[in-house]
Amino acid sequence: MPQEFKLILKHLDNPGYTPDIECYLRHGGYDALKKALAIPAVELPEGKKKSAQEQIRDDVMKSGLRGRGGAGFSCGLKWSFVDRRSGKPIYLICNADESEPGTFKDRQIIHKDPHQLIEGMIISCFANDVKLAYIYIRGEMPKGAKLLNAALKEARAKNFLGKNILGSGYDLEIHVHRGAGAYICGEETGLIESLEGKRPYPRIKPPYFPAVLGLYMCPTIVNNVETLCNVKHIVAMGGAEFAKLGTPNNTGTRIVSLSGHVKRPGYYEIETGKATIGQLINDPAFGGGLRDGRKLKAVIPGGSSAKVFKAGEKFKLKRKVDGKDVEQEVDMLDLPYDFDSLIAAGSMSGSSAIIVMDDSVDIVEALANISEFYAHESCGQCTPCREGSLWMSKTLHRLTHGQGRKSDADYLVKIADNIPGGKTICAFGEACSWPVQSFVAKFKDEFVAKGAADEVRRAKEGKGAGPTHEMKIAASPQH
Ligand SMILES: Cc1cc2nc3c(=O)[nH]c(=O)nc-3n(C[C@H](O)[C@H](O)[C@H](O)COP(=O)(O)O)c2cc1C
Ligand code: SF4
Repeated sequence: MPQEFKLILKHLDNPGYTPDIECYLRHGGYDALKKALAIPAVELPEGKKKSAQEQIRDDVMKSGLRGRGGAGFSCGLKWSFVDRRSGKPIYLICNADESEPGTFKDRQIIHKDPHQLIEGMIISCFANDVKLAYIYIRGEMPKGAKLLNAALKEARAKNFLGKNILGSGYDLEIHVHRGAGAYICGEETGLIESLEGKRPYPRIKPPYFPAVLGLYMCPTIVNNVETLCNVKHIVAMGGAEFAKLGTPNNTGTRIVSLSGHVKRPGYYEIETGKATIGQLINDPAFGGGLRDGRKLKAVIPGGSSAKVFKAGEKFKLKRKVDGKDVEQEVDMLDLPYDFDSLIAAGSMSGSSAIIVMDDSVDIVEALANISEFYAHESCGQCTPCREGSLWMSKTLHRLTHGQGRKSDADYLVKIADNIPGGKTICAFGEACSWPVQSFVAKFKDEFVAKGAADEVRRAKEGKGAGPTHEMKIAASPQH
């Protein structure tokens, strides 16, 4: 039976563990930084040398660490794209926006173990020759910002930050920047615009890949809180050891935010892929099962933008059996919770936020709620996203307010299919479409039944089928 595996969460919920530096130091804090700063250069053939910085970057690559912010992109590869020849300063930004609905893992680290993040950041900055870094924290987390500022002050006082860190000759400053409260501020280029003091309009890629043209048009690394914490552990244990945690291509641990209709909602750290979705929901060590007398209806496996799974859904997955690739049918609950299995099943682990819905949930209402969020949060730059997210939300609003039509299900999919696929500047286009596409595809009967019932009721009231889709949307009280 899988259990929690606490690497990043090792201390933070232990009785007596506090966010101050003295407590962190008593638990081996900043030892990994000391180790990193003391790494000697390695002699290479032809008189060349591999610096400490290059060795750390190699180790991060070797560790297989993938970003914990959503896309699961290789951290080592991201760092390798940084333009180190431009002569411009290189910046590092910690993405602490954490606004994907269902996600509440980064804030635990910030609130309860801020020095772990700061140590991970200092090592990451050292490895990438960064002299100035930022923590961009969600505006609605004022306590987190306060704690981080206090922790940075403590780190400066001990010379873990500032000039000539621990006599190494390396200088670094880190500032906390509070966001103004928009989901799109979590998208890395929107975040950069916001940090520059502008509206968080995402930038188009190419050319604005942060690794080349990021903050102030300089090379910039944007990494998630959990990703940066992992760097500390990679240096402490070595990339090869880290890569032994988890499963191949899905190394290390993941902190899963588990919410919804389970007995024990909360955050749980597991070795990546070593627990299934079903175990996370049902095992006593994790969710402890559904509320009494209820059956599972659906699971969103990676934050609200991830495609929903229906209870009982089956997937064909390639697995290694005796060294051979074999295709096996796997129930949704038996999917290992890792990046690749969830992608193979047509969804994603995203920000590793599992939202559990039991049979008490009105699935149309649930989607209406999600879609209202996305319509509100679209930054409005791209027509398909701005208009499409609003149309979907308005259609769902009328479906949940007695004004639906049988054909609304198809109408929703038609809108959702026309938003993503390179038609928008950022991945928000996908994020607002995926829930609609998957909810309607997997629970179509519920959407059709709701619309049909509305039509029958209106016909009885002598109101006919009602106005066209477009007229109704324009007349909707919402927005
Ligand atoms: C609409 C949108 C919102 C996002 N919100 C967050 C967020 O709140 N936190 C985060 O770490 N990444 C978020 N991301 C992903 C970031 O753009 C970026 O990929 C991530 O911070 C990179 O860090 P990582 O490589 O360590 O995962 C978001 C992406 C999109 C498209
Ligand atoms: S896809 Fe949506 S959120 Fe992203 S830039 Fe375009 S309008 Fe803004």
